[in-house]
Amino acid sequence: MKGVILAGGTGSRLKPATLVTNKHLLPVYNKPMIFFPLETMAACGFKEVMIVSGREHAGHFLNLLGSGKDFGLKLSYEVQEEAGGIAQALCLAEDFAEHGPVAVQLGDNIFENTGQLVNGVKKFSADPNGAMIFLKAVPDPERFGVAEVLGDKVASIIEKPKNPKSNLCVTGFYIYDGRVFDVIKTLKPSGRGELEITEVNNYYINNSSMKFETVEGEWTDAGTFESLFRAGELARKTALENQK
Ligand code: G1P
Repeated sequence: MKGVILAGGTGSRLKPATLVTNKHLLPVYNKPMIFFPLETMAACGFKEVMIVSGREHAGHFLNLLGSGKDFGLKLSYEVQEEAGGIAQALCLAEDFAEHGPVAVQLGDNIFENTGQLVNGVKKFSADPNGAMIFLKAVPDPERFGVAEVLGDKVASIIEKPKNPKSNLCVTGFYIYDGRVFDVIKTLKPSGRGELEITEVNNYYINNSSMKFETVEGEWTDAGTFESLFRAGELARKTALENQK
């Protein structure tokens, strides 16, 4: 299985910090944000990883990361000409994924503990059909895609609900079988003008082929000033623990 890191978008919620650079190149404590998903992909055992970014800053990723050898990865790069949502960005990885299963991480998602992701990747590889998401209980679910779990199944996901049915956020790490690219091609832009990853996930839920795992340890996105600050605190905690 190959990995894809989505690092496009305009970073509109982080302006003016993102006026002349890409959100995923901003520092999170002691390193650029993009290092975190790269380390997560490496921890999950992926060797070949594609970074999808926007046209304006694609060259910066190449300058920073090169071939990927510092991470033990073989990196490929793809350019999203215009920001059109997570699902649209993922579609650009279709040839790279060779129509096989693919693991996707949003470039602004930081996981303290990658254990459940590693387990999920192993489980999915053993039965590479359908999709898998990774849930985390959060205090502010209305900011995210929110999953309703009934028994051992995900019943639905609602993107940024005003009245969340649970506190279970759908984190930005997903695994899909090869159908995902055909599913994305059927999507229409949402109210915010984007092809939504939540609609992709709901396709798999409606086909009874969505699996899920629960994330252990802390998790945060870093797409707002508050969450970027929290990401810095989490990165600092991890860095100091690793020094001990
Ligand atoms: C995106 C997804 C959302 C998910 C979140 C995780 O939100 O649309 O479902 O919970 O990432 O970080 P966005 O950051 O685009 O608002």
